[in-house]
Amino acid sequence: MIVCVCNRVSDREIRERVQASPCALRDLRRELCVGTQCAKCLPTALDVMREAAPVP
Ligand code: FES
Repeated sequence: MIVCVCNRVSDREIRERVQASPCALRDLRRELCVGTQCAKCLPTALDVMREAAPVP
């Protein structure tokens, strides 16, 4: 599923990045460009991040 339509970033890409090493939303923005245009994808991107690396 595409999470960020503006930059064509999928939930799989976000999940893979989060599982590779701990990261914050700012890292996803910098590395994958998630949310760097209209920013409407940020709530969904955060949900995907939390599902991929739940806080213990
Ligand atoms: Fe992600 Fe627009 S949908 S910046």
